This record gives sequence, C-alpha cells and structure tokens, in this order.
Amino acid sequence: MTQLASRPTDPTTPRPARPVPDLVTEIPGPRARAHVEFDHGLTSPSLPRAYPLVPVRGEGATIEDIDGNLFLDFAAGIAVNSTGHAHPRVVAAIQEQAAELLHYSASDFYLPIYARTCQRLGAISPFKGPTRVYLGNSGTEVVEASIKLARHVTGRQNLVAFLGGFHGRTYGSVSLTASKAKYHAGFGPLLPGIYHAPFGRVADLRWFDEVLFRRLVPADEVAAVIVEPIQGEGGYIVPEDGFLQGLRELCDRHGILLIADEIQSGPGRTGRMWAMEHWGVTPDILLTAKGLASGMPLGALIAPARLLEVWGAGAHGSTFGGNPVSCAAALATIDLLEEGLIADAAERGEQALEGLGPLADRFPGFVRDVRGKGLMLGVEFDTPEHAEEVQWVCFQRGLLVLECGTSAVRLSPPLVVTQEEIATALRIFGEAVEVVARVPRHVLEEAEAAGAVTGVEAGG
Ligand SMILES: Cc1ncc(COP(=O)(O)O)c(C=O)c1O
Repeated sequence: MTQLASRPTDPTTPRPARPVPDLVTEIPGPRARAHVEFDHGLTSPSLPRAYPLVPVRGEGATIEDIDGNLFLDFAAGIAVNSTGHAHPRVVAAIQEQAAELLHYSASDFYLPIYARTCQRLGAISPFKGPTRVYLGNSGTEVVEASIKLARHVTGRQNLVAFLGGFHGRTYGSVSLTASKAKYHAGFGPLLPGIYHAPFGRVADLRWFDEVLFRRLVPADEVAAVIVEPIQGEGGYIVPEDGFLQGLRELCDRHGILLIADEIQSGPGRTGRMWAMEHWGVTPDILLTAKGLASGMPLGALIAPARLLEVWGAGAHGSTFGGNPVSCAAALATIDLLEEGLIADAAERGEQALEGLGPLADRFPGFVRDVRGKGLMLGVEFDTPEHAEEVQWVCFQRGLLVLECGTSAVRLSPPLVVTQEEIATALRIFGEAVEVVARVPRHVLEEAEAAGAVTGVEAGG
C-alpha cells in the first residue's frame, strides 16, 4: 500500500492508501500517450525507450505515472533506485546538502564531502590496504577513467573485454562494449587495441592462451581485462563458478590488471556489497555507479592507493564529478545498505528466484532459463519477441520490468522491496508468461496497435 495519489488537491487532507499496482486508466493512459507524442518531436531519437511509461512520482518500490496509475517497479530506472524511490533518509541528506552547497569542483578545490565519500568507498571496498578513489558523474565516465589509469599504470596499450559485455556509450567504453552491434554501428573507428573474449565458461578462458596471446597480441602488451561479474545489459548472465577465479589467476600470471565493472551489480544489489564477493575474487580496480547514490548521478573508481598514485596532478579530473549533493546521497545510501538492505536483497532475491524457477518447468522450451543473484534476476525466453511481449503484458498489468540481452527480461527492484511486493510481482510475471505463451500473436498485435512494441531493445 502506498500514500501516493495522482493529484493531491489539499496537502492537509490525508490521502487514502492505495494498493499497488493500481491502474485507473488504460495503459498507456491518455496523458501518457499525449506526453509520448510531445516528447517524440523534441528528444534525441537515439534514446531506445522500452515502453511508454511516463513516471512523475515514486515511493519505495512504487511508481506513479502521469495518469495517476501506480506501478510496482521492478526496473528501478535501469537498476538504479537502490534504496527505493524517495527514501526519506536519502531525501533528507540531499536537501540538507543542497541547502549548504550545490557545487564546488573537487577537481580544482578541496571539497570535504568528496573526500569523506572517497574514504567511505575505500572502507567498503574489497581492498585491504590504503585506497584512493576517483569520482565521476556516471558509469561510462569511470570506465573511461579506468582505461586511462590502466594504460598509465602498466605502460601497456591493449585491453580485453568480453562478448556480451556492456560498459557504456562514450568512445572508450563503447569500444569495450560488445553486447549488441547497434552500439558500434556507424561510429567507427573505435578505440584501437581492444579485444573481446568469450564470457562465462571456465573452458572459455583457454581463448586467452590459445588465441589472444598466441595469435593476436603478447600478454605483456595487455594492460587490463575488464569484466562485469554478472553481465547486465548483455542478459543478466551469471558466469560459471571458477570463471572469475580463473581470470584472476590469468591476470596475475601476466601482470594484467583486472577491472571489475560493478556499475550495475554493485553496491548491494546481488545480496553482497560487491558481486565479485560471490566468487571470492578481488579485482585491481573496482568501478561502480547506478545504485551508488540512489538515483543521483555518481560513479566511482576505487583502487589500491599505489595504483592511483601513479597519476600525476592533472592526469584526470572532472568539473562536476563527485558533486556534493550526489555524495550526500551516496553516504546515506551506503548507511542504509550496511544497516540491512544488502541482507534484505539476498533474502528477497532467494524468494524471487524460488518463485521464478518453476516457470522453466511450467513452460518448457518457452522459458529457457531463470538465473541471477540477489535482486539481479533474469528470465531467458525462446525468442526476442516473446521477451518483449512478456515485458509489455507486465506493463499492462502494472509491473515494470526491462528486457536485456537478446531474449531475456530482467527484474531489478529497489532493495527495499518487501516480501509482499515480491509475491505480487511473481504473480503478475507468471500471468504475463502464461498469457504470452498461450496467445502470443494476439498480444503482440494489440501492443503494436498501441504503438508500444518498438522492436528496439532497452539499453543500459
Ligand atoms: C555494467 C555497466 N557498465 C557501464 C554502464 C554505463 O553506465 P552509464 O549509463 O551510467 O554511463 C552500464 C549502464 O547500463 C552498465 O550496466
């Protein structure tokens, strides 16, 4: 139940609690449809837009749209709103900081909350000794920083990323990205010196010795390997046990830095502070963003001090990176994670995985796989169209989920999601799978008529 209401008239009148989901118009509603039309003439057509959700307000795991419909949010703004929408402690921290100081660049001056955030991130990092931290505004910015740092530290030029990986959309990070060809289409030449390895199976690691180092580039010219411990945009793909450990050994053997891109999988989302912990692997450089500041823009590159100390003054920086309001949101977020949200994510994740698992038996061949850790859950379907239709039917019934990979749907709710909300989401998701498995063409045609199924996969 939530206190959200579409158009509160008098703030002193208590609003009646509403169940969630609570749909009061057809979906999308008239205001949403009008807004989509308004938006289409103004915004960059490059934005992929998964479906016509027009959110205006949020609370916990609930999103209210422009028509006053309440949705159960298992998309969380692409796995971002870790502490839920408008967590009172995060909002208070933001308001307090905003009233004190909105901006003063930490690149050229000494911003107290910036250093305190770096200290806190060091303390929750997997690194044993002293750490140093660079703060940016987004995931892609800290990926770029890691490329520059790895080349600087090692004096080597080449980088290895993985097929299916997603690291962002600026030139360095999009060159590392290999989840969908459309991210590269028309943008070449990309950053040189990047190789893509197969992801996920222990046996795939042979590719390094048998193909990369033997035929393409000597190991001592490779600066870093960058890996998502669980691939995100590429399909919520969990590697085999032993894969990340094997990768760590391989990097150690050749003096190659291991960069963990935990921009989507951390902090806390997988039921551990960092997803790498599931396999007991410590990277050399850790990247995070998305959920770190509960929705305020912030990215972090965390590394042992000895690595970052190779950079001299001016080697890297940012006007806005580590904005004080974003830092305040991050500090409140980390408090909440440590006070219980990580443990909750593990518990709620188990509940969700147990509920989703039987779908593969109920719909054999249609549901191909159910996987994930904590609240980073993916369901693989037989075709991209079926994944898209399930996403659409969920939306129609008040549950927000998001496609990923080629034919998967991801569930990534805020970590504050309750047991009851998980149960509701499982019920709606199960119904959606059943509807699509039984009457796919009819559903797709309806969705196409409403202009909703775009044929463009969600990104991020
Ligand atoms: C694993 C991973 N790395 C990097 C990025 C890029 O982050 P941003 O969109 O904040 O630039 C994303 C975004 O989806 C991501 O999931």
